[in-house]
Amino acid sequence: MKKILVIGSAGQIGSELTLALRDIYGGDNVIAGVRKTKPSEKLTSTGPCEVVDALDVDALVSTVKKYNIDCIINMAAILSATGEKNPMLAWDVNMNGLINVLEVAREHNMKQVLVPSSIAVFGPTTPVDNTPQETILKPTTMYGITKVAGELLGDYYEKKYGLDVRGLRYPGIISHETEPGGGTTDYAVAIYYEAIKNKKYTCFVNENTRLPMMYMPDCLKATIDLMQADYSKLKHHSDFNVGAMSFSAGELAASVKKYIPEFEITYQPDERQAIADSWPNSVDDSAARKEWGWKPDYDLDAMTRDMLEVIGEKHKKGLI
Ligand code: SER
Repeated sequence: MKKILVIGSAGQIGSELTLALRDIYGGDNVIAGVRKTKPSEKLTSTGPCEVVDALDVDALVSTVKKYNIDCIINMAAILSATGEKNPMLAWDVNMNGLINVLEVAREHNMKQVLVPSSIAVFGPTTPVDNTPQETILKPTTMYGITKVAGELLGDYYEKKYGLDVRGLRYPGIISHETEPGGGTTDYAVAIYYEAIKNKKYTCFVNENTRLPMMYMPDCLKATIDLMQADYSKLKHHSDFNVGAMSFSAGELAASVKKYIPEFEITYQPDERQAIADSWPNSVDDSAARKEWGWKPDYDLDAMTRDMLEVIGEKHKKGLI
């Protein structure tokens, strides 16, 4: 039986991944690691919660020992836009946090470590359409630099120490449970909230900006499927491209308008435009499909219907 520690359990992916893993492995076997002292009721009522900061090795080790952890998922990171405002913080959290996790995992003979990566590993010289699995990795953001180094470190620990490290290059993740913070792809979440609340949205990238995106149910499926994949079938470890859908900001707005015809969007690109422009339009995820059977379920309109329904309900209840 796995005993999993999710670091970054209060974040956009961590909050839902922790609950999904608790459904599979049992609440007591999935420990929510949070930096906030007050985690959500959903996290505290479904299993153990601990204050864990990957930069604090002693606290990390004591949590690992307390629960006999044999799998760590490190979802704590500073995303691209915040990383450009504070590159040293991004380096510290994303690199020092990661090496601490890998070292603790090695020293305590973990069965598995999950280290998320991102489309941010790519840069302006990478082929933009159907970006290959093996390609140019020359990012121009600090976030991207830490993600490339994270992939290399994951593969290094796998090869040198036999530590089972796995990771995905997440596209922009869209969800309605916990809002993202500090990312370049955040507009693809904010548009739904603003469409429900105000029927209008000012988008910080231009209409033609096209990026790979994924709805949270597919994100959870990809993450859990990779964790459960047969190790002997994996040729890659820390750097799987995973695709689901690819759309421009204009196409996203058109999808929202199908359900809220009076919705209005304007475009005021800011410094995040350059980051978005340095990332691919779409990715080739044939390695993930071949090695562990990856296949997404949601397309843009299916996601839009779901997002508007759930956020609409939250709005009616006065929760947003
Ligand atoms: N969603 C992330 C960001 O925009 C990309 O991994 O920074």
